Amino acid sequence: MYLKKQASQDMRRYYASVIVAVKQGGSEVLGYYSLSTGAISRSWFPDEVRKKLPRYEAAPAVLLGRLAVASTMQRGGLGKGLLGDAVARACQYGAAWAVFLVSAKHGRAAAYYKQYGFTEFAGDPLLLWAPRKSIQELF
Ligand SMILES: CC(C)(COP(=O)(O)OP(=O)(O)OC[C@H]1O[C@@H](n2cnc3c(N)ncnc32)[C@H](O)[C@@H]1OP(=O)(O)O)[C@@H](O)C(=O)NCCC(=O)NCCS
Repeated sequence: MYLKKQASQDMRRYYASVIVAVKQGGSEVLGYYSLSTGAISRSWFPDEVRKKLPRYEAAPAVLLGRLAVASTMQRGGLGKGLLGDAVARACQYGAAWAVFLVSAKHGRAAAYYKQYGFTEFAGDPLLLWAPRKSIQELF
């Protein structure tokens, strides 16, 4: 639905890059995700993390949203592959970022991200984060 209704507008306005996985030699969409830059206020982090952060008001971040895999392809590793692709693209991006954010659609999606080491924010359990270094090492 996002791909049909919103993605091209988000791309046109530079609000998100939308990356689509298609079948080799075909055009059938197998999965997709969106990637944007952003910032996350230091006040969102738990005390023990916050005290180790540089004393800027916000930490530079990238945000992965809208991760989805076609129902026929789920549980085959494509979601993990797309997540890895997003991390790789973000690392190649010229501007610095320190935090990788993921926006989960629902609690089950949040559980999916947690298995890769993402932590939810107390202020919004559907927004999760991981430090760049740990997510880079994982993928
Ligand atoms: C969530 C989603 C992106 C995962 O992609 P996927 O290709 O199915 O997942 P992968 O094959 O990479 O990983 C699956 C593994 O993750 C784990 N997992 C944990 N929670 C999960 C969940 N909610 N959905 C799928 N896998 C989950 C399982 O251990 C599974 O391993 P298994 O196959 O050995 O059981 C995909 O299932 C999807 O598009 N779901 C519908 C839309 C959605 O919920 N999007 C959430 C992001 S906002």
